[in-house]
Amino acid sequence: MIKIAPSILSSDFANLEASVHAAEAAGADYIHVDVMDGHFVPNITVGPPVVAAIAQVTELPLDVHLMIEEPDRYLRDFAAAGATTVMVHVEACRHLHRTVQYMRQLGLRPGVTLNPATSLETLREILPYVDQVLVMTVNPGFGGQTYIPTMTGKIARLAAMIEERGSSAEIEVDGGIDVETAPLVVAAGARILVAGTAVFACPGGIAEGIQSLREAVAAPVG
Ligand code: DX5
Ligand code: ZN
Repeated sequence: MIKIAPSILSSDFANLEASVHAAEAAGADYIHVDVMDGHFVPNITVGPPVVAAIAQVTELPLDVHLMIEEPDRYLRDFAAAGATTVMVHVEACRHLHRTVQYMRQLGLRPGVTLNPATSLETLREILPYVDQVLVMTVNPGFGGQTYIPTMTGKIARLAAMIEERGSSAEIEVDGGIDVETAPLVVAAGARILVAGTAVFACPGGIAEGIQSLREAVAAPVG
């Protein structure tokens, strides 16, 4: 079963509760929250108070993507705010194994994330310790960007590496996922699809956006 994680980055921030409820009612599996610090990425978004506010209005697990420098400094706050899974970028962690251990201690599901140009080799030693690997299929920082086609092969190679390492980590993808690209990433091994524009900016509405993605991945790639 493919999971859909709508990214609230593309939702109406003045009506966040309504957006989250619409995604939940339409069958979203997670709510994806993009945390940006203006340093790791050239954009600033939200922090633990907004994660806590979202946790108050939904039963869905919160999938929190930290695009920040020194994420260790804030992990306790995100855990207290109600995050379920937290993804740190390998590019932002000097001692990734320590960071992952710390996330476990805090009761979080640990995830790690790679930028498009970062090699899969940076993950090899950490794979047995994480529950989720997020492959960025655009350069992080903004919604509405175009999927980078060479990421399909990277996802497939990651799936093989996960099997080889005996890891049970699930592959999530983020950036430019729509009805065209979703079948490609699923065929390559992705199991969790983050989608911002395709859900919250779908002309037919949020429910249609989620439903279209589900239908796109239900049909075999032809
Ligand atoms: C980008 C964020 C994404 C973003 C995806 O840095 O990590 O989660 O919201 O947006 P779309 O689906 O529009 O590419
Ligand atoms: Zn994200």
